[in-house]
Amino acid sequence: MIEQGDLKKAEKPDNRVIDRDEKSQTKRKNEVSLRPQTLNAYIGQSEIKKNLKIAIEASKKRKESMDHILVHGPAGLGKTTLAHIIANEMNVNIKITSGPTLEKQGDLASLLTNLQEHDILFIDEIHRLKPAVEEILYTAMEDFGIDIIIGQGPSARSVRLSVPPFTLIGATTKISLLSSPLRDRFGNVFRLNFYSDDDIKKIVKRTAEILNYKIDEDASDRIAKSARQTPRIANRLLRRIRDFAEVKGQKQITSAIANEGLASLGIDHLGLDQADRDILELIIGKFNGGPVGLSAIAAATSEEQNTLEDVYEPYLIKTGLLERTHRGRTATQAAYTHLGHDILNKK
Ligand code: ADE
Repeated sequence: MIEQGDLKKAEKPDNRVIDRDEKSQTKRKNEVSLRPQTLNAYIGQSEIKKNLKIAIEASKKRKESMDHILVHGPAGLGKTTLAHIIANEMNVNIKITSGPTLEKQGDLASLLTNLQEHDILFIDEIHRLKPAVEEILYTAMEDFGIDIIIGQGPSARSVRLSVPPFTLIGATTKISLLSSPLRDRFGNVFRLNFYSDDDIKKIVKRTAEILNYKIDEDASDRIAKSARQTPRIANRLLRRIRDFAEVKGQKQITSAIANEGLASLGIDHLGLDQADRDILELIIGKFNGGPVGLSAIAAATSEEQNTLEDVYEPYLIKTGLLERTHRGRTATQAAYTHLGHDILNKK
């Protein structure tokens, strides 16, 4: 339940709960121009696309908003991109916010009550919603209403405000942290998987074309294999390597330029960068290969535990270099080999 005063306070003209930061807007603009706008232009995740196409077509036929959608999976795989595509395909507005941005019930209430019919509300990092804010979502998602309390003391009474029928798209890297009442209110749950090297290669070629660069087969292959099966990383690497081509006055990305660029960025053939290797070196060198707790790794690397868990670990685990056990993190035989250590030296 939400206090009426709280709702008023949230209706500030600067609309703080929606990201208006100038830098992030510029960054977003660059990313947006590379982002596919339609499901047909979206490469990979074929099962999700197939199901989304049906869900979109059915809602359009019924002239209803889509059922709420939860998208989960590691960072950089295209959760936000999918939300934009859905809005575009449904021809509706999308409002973007995130779990940590919504501090008070009123923040969410004012967003919800300002939506237009069939709009999409995208909440990134939905697992970080405060319980009190999350509570508002339940009735909004289920009954398209929110309850507010008017007045104080014995004369206080509850009034239900209606919310236009809308679609919530929640995104999370940590589905296990979502409460079951929230998870159960999503009609569609999609898990994004790491991309195949082939799909990443197609994304690299598509982005090169948008950036107006020619790219050799070998170069797109090399970049794809270094991109940790993640489109965001593939596009970032491509932009950095494009800088190398630019400086050389070339409009063609050759494998020589790709190799030079990747070497200079410290990216090895498994796609690990210096920070990844530092983590493994630390576990091997300082903690005898583990098991070692996340907090000890965080303290020694000056990285936040969340960053270690969300950014570094998924790929290290996926490539079989790191194992997560209940006693902590362990570097595998493959990690010893990759870094040129002899596992027999493990004490
Ligand atoms: N750019 C980033 N992700 C993409 C995807 N899945 N398909 C096409 N282009 C992309």
